[in-house]
Amino acid sequence: MHPTFAPFPATRLRRMRRTPALRALAQENALGLGDLIWPVFVRDGVNTRDQIASMPGVERLSVDLVVKAAEMAAGLGIPAICLFPYTDPALKTADCREAWNPDNLANRAIRAIKAAVPDIAVMTDVALDPYNLHGHDGLVQDGIILNDETVEALVKMTLAQAEAGADILGPSDMMDGRIGAMRAALEGAGHKDVAILSYAAKYASAFYGPFRDAVGATGALKGDKKTYQMNPANSDEALRLVARDLAEGADMVMVKPGMPYLDICRRVKDAFSAPTYAYQVSGEYAMIRGAALNGWIDGEKAMLESLMCFKRAGCDGILTYFAPDVARLIRAGL
Ligand code: PBG
Repeated sequence: MHPTFAPFPATRLRRMRRTPALRALAQENALGLGDLIWPVFVRDGVNTRDQIASMPGVERLSVDLVVKAAEMAAGLGIPAICLFPYTDPALKTADCREAWNPDNLANRAIRAIKAAVPDIAVMTDVALDPYNLHGHDGLVQDGIILNDETVEALVKMTLAQAEAGADILGPSDMMDGRIGAMRAALEGAGHKDVAILSYAAKYASAFYGPFRDAVGATGALKGDKKTYQMNPANSDEALRLVARDLAEGADMVMVKPGMPYLDICRRVKDAFSAPTYAYQVSGEYAMIRGAALNGWIDGEKAMLESLMCFKRAGCDGILTYFAPDVARLIRAGL
């Protein structure tokens, strides 16, 4: 037994749970506005929004409305917004060239937000899947996802996003060597202060389903992403990936999905003491929101509990579609 643990009845752990005041004093972790990164979906058009059926309450927004959303988020005290473009299927090609078009949807949204709401940090997605005829995060040849050729494409995408004014780049592709290549390119082009939040431990997960609907990748994707995303059975491998990405120049690292992978968050935080984030992904959002809409759980309580658990697991922050909802609750004193 722990040396400071006097036996019952000297120790009654319920004493510190008796009242809200005592519980507040004994509370070990806290969820704050500064923990939130809000992922949003961007579409073409003006003053246009569509609902995403598998993510009730989440919409794709045209650039002008994304700017308004960023203003709202900044007003709530949310420090960062993360952009995911829904690309016109006509622009998807095998070489994914739209990914590094300086005027593509994502880059236009970055510029518009930085012009109107300079204080909010803009994070991006660095991966080819929104632009890829094949729906994969990398270039595909004869059914193989090419690594090194993809890294070259990601570097072009990196520079276009940095040029547009992105604060944080989020490589979500899981190619080997991309962090070092991106970091070198950023240094070389004078973008020395652009941060990289590496999707370092990203698992091949069924919980991404609603997201693929949201970015229009569901129909395009043939097969699965198991040759580049991680096996959910693995844990030591996550530590190797995080060590590698930090050594190549990542400023922050991510574990994704979130809720089924809290053990990985804890191991990563303990092993590296680096800024560690979790992505509470679309399927996790859909489960909580869907159950709440059916009256099966208390949606507000489940949302807050799920986010607090990321803090308990050692995360410095969470990417969550609940960000505005939870920010309002935090501001109201929970
Ligand atoms: C792809 C990407 C995915 C997500 C973020 N970036 C899906 C995938 O890997 O297929 C998932 C996010 C979510 O489910 O909320 N580059």
